[in-house]
Amino acid sequence: MTDHRLRRSATVTLRLRGDEVVAANPRVGSTRKIPESLFQVLRGLAQWTSHEVVVGLLRDATGDAARADTVLQALLSEGFLVEESAPADQFESAFSSGWPFGETTADHHLVTRSLSFSDDRTEAFSYGKVLRVHASDDLAPETLSDAGVISLPEPRVSDALVASLSRRRSRRDFVPVPVSGEQLSSVLWAAAGIQGFRTPAHRPALPLMFAPSAGGLNGVDCYVLVQGVAGLEPGVYRYRPRSGALDRVRDASSVDAERLLGNQRWAGAAGAVVVLVGNAARTAWKYDAASGFNALLLQAGHMAQNALLAAADVGLGAVTSNAIHAQDMESTLGLQPGRDIVLTSVSVGHVDGDVSRYEEYEGTDMSILAKMANP
Ligand SMILES: Cc1cc2nc3c(=O)[nH]c(=O)nc-3n(C[C@H](O)[C@H](O)[C@H](O)COP(=O)(O)O)c2cc1C
Repeated sequence: MTDHRLRRSATVTLRLRGDEVVAANPRVGSTRKIPESLFQVLRGLAQWTSHEVVVGLLRDATGDAARADTVLQALLSEGFLVEESAPADQFESAFSSGWPFGETTADHHLVTRSLSFSDDRTEAFSYGKVLRVHASDDLAPETLSDAGVISLPEPRVSDALVASLSRRRSRRDFVPVPVSGEQLSSVLWAAAGIQGFRTPAHRPALPLMFAPSAGGLNGVDCYVLVQGVAGLEPGVYRYRPRSGALDRVRDASSVDAERLLGNQRWAGAAGAVVVLVGNAARTAWKYDAASGFNALLLQAGHMAQNALLAAADVGLGAVTSNAIHAQDMESTLGLQPGRDIVLTSVSVGHVDGDVSRYEEYEGTDMSILAKMANP
């Protein structure tokens, strides 16, 4: 018997869908249809309530003492109830005191913190099903007929820009050669380095980066998981955009880039993984609604592209990935829930030659795709 108090998770939603009640907790990614009796119990547990009283309520709702205990364990493990002072309670307290971007954005953020990442076989299965309904042409971006088409002049940009843009291609076939400090510095500088300042009247100076930034507020920070960089101990670092220096956050004992990027096997071989993290405190005083959250997502995209272009320029392979175990990443980077938001990542490392040797779907029987498409 425990004397911990319990309450409904602050991030649970209870919704009617037809005749059924659906309880969902985006923080843990759980969704479950529940009977009316359980809905009434959950609805009543907004405040801390003793364990004994909760068990009593569940016994009344289920009509069975043994079942009440099983249901209680399920409600705890699926995150619908939280125990006082447990990690879930601590997370929710920090999150609810910090999160400024509105409730629906909170749901979106919490849902996308739980990694959803299909393996090769599942992807082949789904793609096969889609091909049964859509011709593959429908799935390509350009499917309009030529009627009414208006031609544009040929694009004309400098050779330097063409060279720079066309050198970028996602590369995941990293070889075990350490990235140099200069290469890492170049990637971080292109992504987040400060080139100058704008000084609007009566306002503090706004730092200017190569990437655009909503309101010039520079709401996205760069962290680095170092696995193989000459002169740097493996571990977690944080980039200082003004001085181009790094702060050491922790050593390598808790850094496993492959696991943190959704068990993608190439990530363990990257020299470094740059993780872009939004900072709500720096931006939300001006953009406190969903569009502020969007601004952070978009800014991270701009910065990631700059990192990818710089990596290609200094002879590194690179790939962006937003398949990230955000919850584990938050604790690895020592982030503050509700203020710091893991947005995306860019992994960099040496590669051999111009053509990727990384085979997507390697070792997966892709005949399932053909079978699904043409049953
Ligand atoms: C938002 C976003 C997320 C991505 N996530 C992953 C990922 O998790 N793993 C991966 O291997 N590639 C990822 N990529 C890279 C794409 O697979 C890649 O850009 C695409 O196959 C096109 O190839 P290219 O980058 O060489 O043009 C991602 C790209 C974007 C834009």
